[in-house]
Amino acid sequence: MAAVPLVLRVLVTTRHMWTHRGPLQHLNGYILRLGKFSHQSKFQRKMYHYGTFPQGFSWGVSSSAYQIEGAWNADRKGPSIWDTFTQKPGSIPGNSSGDVACDSYHRLEEDFYMLRALRVKSYRFSLSWSRIFPNGRHPSLSQNGVDYYNRLIDGLLAYNITPMVTLYHWDLPQALQDLGGWENIDMINIFNEFCDFCFATFGDRVKFWMTFNQPHTIAWSGYGLGEIPPNVKNPGIAPYRVAHNLIKAHAKVYHTYDDKYRASQGGLISIALNADWIEPKDVNIFREVLAADRALQFKLGWFAHPIFKNGDYPDAMKWQVGNKSELQGLSNSRLPAFTEQEKSFIRGTADMFCVNHYTTQIARHATLRLSPQSYKYDHDLLEAEESGSPSTAITNQRAVAWGLRRLLNWIKEEYGDPEIYITENGVATDSKTTWDDTGRVFYYKTYIDEALKASDIDGVKVKGYIATSLMDSFEWLNGYKVGFGLHHVDFTNPNRPRTPKYSAHFYFRKDFIWSVSTSRWKRSQYLGQVCSHSSQSVQ
Ligand code: NOJ
Repeated sequence: MAAVPLVLRVLVTTRHMWTHRGPLQHLNGYILRLGKFSHQSKFQRKMYHYGTFPQGFSWGVSSSAYQIEGAWNADRKGPSIWDTFTQKPGSIPGNSSGDVACDSYHRLEEDFYMLRALRVKSYRFSLSWSRIFPNGRHPSLSQNGVDYYNRLIDGLLAYNITPMVTLYHWDLPQALQDLGGWENIDMINIFNEFCDFCFATFGDRVKFWMTFNQPHTIAWSGYGLGEIPPNVKNPGIAPYRVAHNLIKAHAKVYHTYDDKYRASQGGLISIALNADWIEPKDVNIFREVLAADRALQFKLGWFAHPIFKNGDYPDAMKWQVGNKSELQGLSNSRLPAFTEQEKSFIRGTADMFCVNHYTTQIARHATLRLSPQSYKYDHDLLEAEESGSPSTAITNQRAVAWGLRRLLNWIKEEYGDPEIYITENGVATDSKTTWDDTGRVFYYKTYIDEALKASDIDGVKVKGYIATSLMDSFEWLNGYKVGFGLHHVDFTNPNRPRTPKYSAHFYFRKDFIWSVSTSRWKRSQYLGQVCSHSSQSVQ
């Protein structure tokens, strides 16, 4: 028995009892993953692994429309819910907004410049829906908006950079919010109309699509907590309804691509889900293991389980929300149910697994209150930061590199070994940090190494890695107080000059080894090539 990790022994002995009490099926991935790592010493966990990703690995960087484009009302662009929100005084520190942001709408050449200098294979960006359809619907089409994205896509291809396009990165046209936004079931067809147009217009050149960015954030922060637009505070009901519509909308768009475009365009389509890794407070206590698994199911599984598994919500969610709803005296669960027909329509609607990842939390079981009704209380657990890891410029986002390897293994076990793209990973630094962002270099170095371990040692099919982000930009509720960029942007200067940070040099040569001579050589090589460039035209 000595060679068997303790956690497995515990699970074996308690399995019967828990099977008896509720569905255990969803725990499989967790058990397998913990079996792999529970015996690791701290030293092994942090050890550096030398190796390479498989041929064809896609290195990229990311951005999103509202965060970088600016030009919020140029050339007939319609307002989005983020325009409405940020233009209301007091919404964002310093009353900042994306009105101008990095001004990428007028500075495409400068963005190309940075992308080329980084020598990335791919660029992930999003389409501003209200730049293309100012009021959200086809008849309002703005050719200027289409032209902008054509220039962007054509420019990328000319430089051999693959466009990875997010169809919805939070900036809903305000006119559609006026119809109820994602709480309105009609949004499924309305979103499909927009995506259909985008496939027809850009799909001859775009071969990598993501429907939604972080649907969890849309549903919970937008309609539960009400922290981000549309600022609906209805934590017990609205997030579940919204998620239900988002999942159906995603599936509908997937089928539109499949039925009308795949044969002629040959692209791939998925959805970008977000997930922290959740580690149990104590792997030897089954209740804590179950709590950590439940946390993953409530966050990632909420969307991934229907799409990648069986068309339906995770058992843990159905069980928890169902029980709580009953105790709350409701006649139906607050978690809506899919019909059998809907389940088969939703199941399998993704060609690859796209995941955004930043940090790790520690979970422990807790019996939470029944009132008020809340998605959060439905979890019955509490989360804490991983206190042994370095903090970053954003509270609650510690740099816990080893969590990425565990998350990737969990996804592999749970969702049948899919091809995985890490579609966002990066760290915030205070915007006073300009080029000397050693913390970010350390973050990338260690996180990328954990992705490498997952690929090289554990056999996870990691196909790509997208660093967030290309440059400092409008960081949502944090405004411009923090930056995730490989490039610094001076937001006090109307020309929005971009300057490569130390991390840009690192990302340019992902293979460099920690040694003064090597890094100095590569740094000077990068500087010679890029900065001369940037001081001439990126001003
Ligand atoms: C996730 C969002 O998708 C992205 O837009 C944002 O910049 C990062 N989180 C960092 O907060």
